[in-house]
Amino acid sequence: MRNPQLTQDGRLQHLLTIEGLPQSILTHILDTASSFVGISDRDVKKVPLMRGKSVFNLFFENSTRTRTTFEIAAKRLSADVINLNISASSASKGESLLDTIDNLAAMHADMFVVRHAESGAPFLIAKHLSDTGQRHVHVVNAGDGRHAHPTQGLLDMYTIRHYKKDFSNLRVAIVGDILHSRVARSDIHALTTLGVPEIRAIGPHTLLPSGLEQMGVQVYTDMQQGLKDVDVIIMLRLQNERMSGALLPSAQEYFKSYGLTPERLALAKPDAIVMHPGPMNRGVEIDSAVADGPQAVILSQVTFGIAVRMAVMSILAGN
Ligand code: CP
Repeated sequence: MRNPQLTQDGRLQHLLTIEGLPQSILTHILDTASSFVGISDRDVKKVPLMRGKSVFNLFFENSTRTRTTFEIAAKRLSADVINLNISASSASKGESLLDTIDNLAAMHADMFVVRHAESGAPFLIAKHLSDTGQRHVHVVNAGDGRHAHPTQGLLDMYTIRHYKKDFSNLRVAIVGDILHSRVARSDIHALTTLGVPEIRAIGPHTLLPSGLEQMGVQVYTDMQQGLKDVDVIIMLRLQNERMSGALLPSAQEYFKSYGLTPERLALAKPDAIVMHPGPMNRGVEIDSAVADGPQAVILSQVTFGIAVRMAVMSILAGN
């Protein structure tokens, strides 16, 4: 079956998930992002690649980093940006998601950036646009449930490539609530596609999904063993909003076993980098001494996110 996010000739039509995307497309996005990174330092921070295009930000779930950096990215590409206020929109009066989409498409939207608590919502929108003859409207998944967060995965890859140069000799550990994490899933697909030879998942049994080994991931429940000699540590937030029932004794107990402290960081390679997609819970998954320390690249991830989102939108828009 054809990948629904690619055109018949293999170009990117939507960005819904990293799963199944060829390495050439991921590399093209990262290379294009490189060309946008310097724009922030220029006097004129805009390029005209999306002049006259309308980007609708539809965030049905809270966001600080993703929503803001998508808006900055679209404006730097000279697009018109419309941020739908979901709580004041007709969605809060019972209008269906697809009726909302049809109405916004009737306002000549060119691109929807969608975050939704339901896994699959951006897929549903992309299929609906195709079924209703509106394939010229592009959909970007800005995080759907626990399924995928492809632009976070791509900005994480950009950050790793920036600091480590080459994917082919890396040992990467992803730590924490992998069960509920769309970031972990997108990162694993991206790391695998880009040729990282060793990917580790570290967490308590209750927060490790089944099927990790089949994805080529080594599973650890012990931080001492899992962090040994890694090049990159990706910490994850405990996603309490997606947990049902008690999966952990307490935040304090969790920190005792899985919090990234300076002592645990010392188990990794001396030049290891520490990443976190945010929002970060200090004292729950990460010690402030690490989060603010010299090996943390957490704020660089945010800055690179602008260039990566510019790259994704400009490529979708046909540049
Ligand atoms: N990383 C991330 O998705 O953060 P936000 O929820 O603030 O967008």
